[in-house]
Amino acid sequence: MESGTDAVTMRDVTVRYGSILALDGVDLAVRKGEAVGIVGPNGSGKSTILKAVAGLIMPAAGDVRVFGREPRELAPGTIGYVPQIEEVDWSFPVDVRDVVAMGRFPRMRLLAPTAPDDRRRTDAALDALGLGELQTRHIAELSGGQRQRVFVARALAQDPQLLLLDEPTTGVDAATENALLAIVRDLVRRGMPIVMTTHDLDRAAEWFDRLVVVDRKIVESGEPRAVLASEAFHGIREHAHTHGHPRG
Ligand SMILES: Nc1ncnc2c1ncn2[C@@H]1O[C@H](COP(=O)(O)OP(=O)(O)O)[C@@H](O)[C@H]1O
Ligand SMILES: [Mg+2]
Repeated sequence: MESGTDAVTMRDVTVRYGSILALDGVDLAVRKGEAVGIVGPNGSGKSTILKAVAGLIMPAAGDVRVFGREPRELAPGTIGYVPQIEEVDWSFPVDVRDVVAMGRFPRMRLLAPTAPDDRRRTDAALDALGLGELQTRHIAELSGGQRQRVFVARALAQDPQLLLLDEPTTGVDAATENALLAIVRDLVRRGMPIVMTTHDLDRAAEWFDRLVVVDRKIVESGEPRAVLASEAFHGIREHAHTHGHPRG
C-alpha cells in the first residue's frame, strides 16, 4: 500500500490520560473510499483512536497523519467527527437546526450573514437524516435515534473529507440504524474514508470493508468475517467477559 494514497495513517501511536495508558503503539492506515470498523471491549481505546485522528487529543508518542498532514494543520471542517452521544451535553439550549448548522461554522466568515450555501448544506443534511420536521425541536426532547441522526447531520453539513463515527448505532432504533448504514455505504462508494467504532458485530460485514480489533493496540485487522472468526478476536471477547465488561 502506497502511503501517499492513505487518508489516515497512525504510526506507533501512544496516548496517555495521566497515568492511564489508553493506546500503546497503534498502527493503522485507512484508504480513501474504505470503511473501517473498530471493535474491542469497553475501555480498550476505541474512542481514543478517533479523538487522536480528529486532533482532539495529542499522542504522547507516535505520528498521526490525515491526508498527509497533522490533523490540526488541516483546513477547518475537513474531518467530520461524531462523538459518542453520552459525551454530548443535551441541556445546551439549541434546536435541531442550530446543531446541524454548527457544522457550517468552520467555513462561515466572522460577522457575515448566513450564506445561501450554508443554508443549502444545512437543509440537505437535515433532509438526508430525515430531520426536516424536527428542525425546531430542542435537542433535549429527542429520542436516542434522533439525537444520533442530528450529530451525523451536523458532520455531513460540514462537507467533510473524512468521517469519524463513535458508536453511532448504540441505543438507536432499527430505522435509524438502517438509515445510517445506507448513508455510510453511499459515502464510501463516492470515495469517503470512514472510521467507525461499534459494538454491533452482527452486521459488521455489511458496514465495513475492514474490521480492526483494538485492545490498547491493534490485535487483528482484516475482512470482517475473517476477523470475527479469528482467535485474536475470541481471545479479546474472553478477556472482556472475565473482566466483566458489558458488551452491547
Ligand atoms: N478523559 C479521560 N480521562 C481519563 N481517562 C480516560 C479519559 N478518556 C478515556 N479514558 C480512559 O482511557 C481508556 C480508553 O478509553 P476509551 O478510548 O474511551 O475506550 P473505549 O472507547 O474503547 O471504551 C479507558 O481506560 C478510559 O477509562
Ligand atoms: Mg468509546
